[in-house]
Amino acid sequence: MSSQRVPIEPQRVDAPLTQSATFLVVSVTSNPDAIQTVRSTLAGLDSLAKNVSIRDLGAQFACTVGIGSDIWDSLTGLPRPAELHSFREVKGAKHTAVSTPGDLLFHIRSERRDLCFEFERQLMDLLGDAVTVVDATVGFRYFDVRDLLGFVDGTANPVGPAVPSSVLVAEEDASASGGSYIVVQKYTHDLHAWKTLPVEQQEKIIGRTKLENVELDDAESGQRSHKTLNTIEDEAGNEHDILRDNMPFGSPGSAEFGTYFIGYTRRLWVIEKMLERMFVGDPPGLHDRLLDFSKPLTGTTFFAPSASLLASLESD
Ligand code: HEM
Repeated sequence: MSSQRVPIEPQRVDAPLTQSATFLVVSVTSNPDAIQTVRSTLAGLDSLAKNVSIRDLGAQFACTVGIGSDIWDSLTGLPRPAELHSFREVKGAKHTAVSTPGDLLFHIRSERRDLCFEFERQLMDLLGDAVTVVDATVGFRYFDVRDLLGFVDGTANPVGPAVPSSVLVAEEDASASGGSYIVVQKYTHDLHAWKTLPVEQQEKIIGRTKLENVELDDAESGQRSHKTLNTIEDEAGNEHDILRDNMPFGSPGSAEFGTYFIGYTRRLWVIEKMLERMFVGDPPGLHDRLLDFSKPLTGTTFFAPSASLLASLESD
């Protein structure tokens, strides 16, 4: 992705929605060589991606890496992105957005599951005992980009030039420019309870119709929909979008039905505001009803630096 406003090369943050994705979160160990191993692996990430993507150019392979706040200084030795900090728990009256550990996130995407698998295999070979895996979730595309609740997910994402302006840090934080904040949360759903709700009620919770994905009007007062709670304006009345690439995951055999939420943003405060509105509610007390059927098991924040910064890591 190239941005008019960002002269350096970002990572493939805006890679297209794919059929398959792996969300790999790892922690860096205290092994004496760990930092150096991770640094050289990240510096070579682009070559590693090429090893795999060339094997089927039509499969839209892409991998972006995010670096967590706790490891940023020792790993990069570079100025910290202005807003970078660990995920802050959000405690509402009924539901909590938990904060869980993780130093690195690899968001691996492709039309083909085998390419994601192969990349993850080669990556783990390189990282070896420099990391321990916190979570590895394999997501899949479900029909017409639906989540397992049955709704089309991702419609309001920015498109075209609105992508870099929503997602990439620019002149406001020069040393972090071309990078992007990432928030992930792994949710599981109580599908049984969700299915007992009439479709009309489900639609009110989401803020769109189920079959045709048509936007419903915002509620004038009282309980707001997921869509409305996640529409964020700043004090000047400007609306701030984020880029989501959520994926269903799970296994009917073990009664696991989930959504892996991933949001990329130029301004971390925007996603934090969304979480506050969802979990605490707006007005406070009227939380996002989606949470009565969806429980976050994880919550972690990362910063995906520009590709240029990643490539420079080895020589530091
Ligand atoms: C259980 C997890 C989640 C599910 C199943 C889910 C599903 C959906 C669906 C179906 C829509 C409507 C279609 C669309 O525009 O994409 C939507 C909209 C949206 N969601 Fe979520 N979502 C989840 C979690 C989150 C979280 C944690 C955030 C932010 C922190 C978020 C932010 C948004 C935003 C920004 C929109 C678009 C609002 C607009 O219309 O401007 N979602 N989500």
